[in-house]
Amino acid sequence: VPLEPYNTFHIVAKAQTLIRVKSEADVAEVLADPVLGPARKFVLGGGSNIVLTGDVKAVTLKVEIMGRRLVAQDDKAWIVEAGAGESWHEVVDWTLSQGWPGLENMALIPGTMGAAPVQNIGAYGLELQDRFDSLDAIDLHTGRPFTLNASQCGFAYRDSVFKHGAPGTGADSNNLGLKDRALITRVRLRLPKAWRPDLGYLDLQRKQAETGITAPTPRQVFDWVCEIRRAKLPDPAVIGNAGSFFKNPTVTPEQCADIIAREPNIVHYPMPDGTVKLAAGWLIDACGWKGKSIGQAGVYEKQALVLVNRGGAATQAPAGATGGEVMTLARAIQTSVYERFGIRLEPEPVVI
Ligand code: EPU
Repeated sequence: VPLEPYNTFHIVAKAQTLIRVKSEADVAEVLADPVLGPARKFVLGGGSNIVLTGDVKAVTLKVEIMGRRLVAQDDKAWIVEAGAGESWHEVVDWTLSQGWPGLENMALIPGTMGAAPVQNIGAYGLELQDRFDSLDAIDLHTGRPFTLNASQCGFAYRDSVFKHGAPGTGADSNNLGLKDRALITRVRLRLPKAWRPDLGYLDLQRKQAETGITAPTPRQVFDWVCEIRRAKLPDPAVIGNAGSFFKNPTVTPEQCADIIAREPNIVHYPMPDGTVKLAAGWLIDACGWKGKSIGQAGVYEKQALVLVNRGGAATQAPAGATGGEVMTLARAIQTSVYERFGIRLEPEPVVI
């Protein structure tokens, strides 16, 4: 089965077996199958945060579990549940039209609901963990369903228990390392009823200044976020990409002072825990990578943190980038950033 339509980088690769799961029962059926059951599994959502470097031998489970509903509310919050196969952006849009704000800063992030907790998606001052209630998943080894709360998901910056290998012995023993083991089926979000716009991010403050709107509605913030993203991030339907390719690195205040002494313009943000976050896009840009390419893999012209596929299905170019080209470009960038700043950039997408 060609995976090109199922990854936003539009990298050409095949899955030996691809099965669409539309319900918990579909998953149970796969696990009960004498051949598929014991085979290794690869859980695929919207494919918006992966780099395929070859064909996938594991049984690919494309999660298409749908459904959105309000599951509970009290005087403090609405609890909204969505199936893992729902589009994240459509859920954000839907909650706003229902009058349940709180997700607007994360508008237009590509991918599915089920993938959102995996990398703890975030944008414009908000992360999934700030609005997360709990999720349901199925242990692909035992077939058992289980539920995790926020602390059990081990959320950190673009990270969770779902991105780590399995030192633990089971989903319900210590919840450590659920990579390739948990299939997330449903996610519940907690949307506080006391709403205030979160306009801490510079780009949003600019929008506020431009429009002169001092008290924007949630829908207004949603529109601003969509405009900002459309202006600087490539639409994966047009140019293959997986969003930011590297995490923004953190350094100690001492390291930061050191770098500032050499590079006074470096973009940096002090974090609540005392460390300093550096803008990886700035570091890459400073090394002259913007607009450069290796083969058909390139560095996006408007945002150096985004690697793009200059060919592929979405374009007129005959052949798209291979996962190998993307990784070669990524390594070249890592090397030059390390040589100039002494900082090791860590890829953000999951490399398959
Ligand atoms: N910058 C440059 N040159 C560049 C790119 C960025 O100098 O080529 C500078 C910008 O001028 C800015 C700073 O770097 O001062 C930060 O850039 P930006 O505001 O675009 O955000 P980012 O740090 O590059 C992060 C997230 C994005 C998220 C935005 C907004 C990560 C890895 N990325 O990007 O998330 O949308 O902030 O909150 O944390 C994603 O994860 O895929 C993603 C797109």
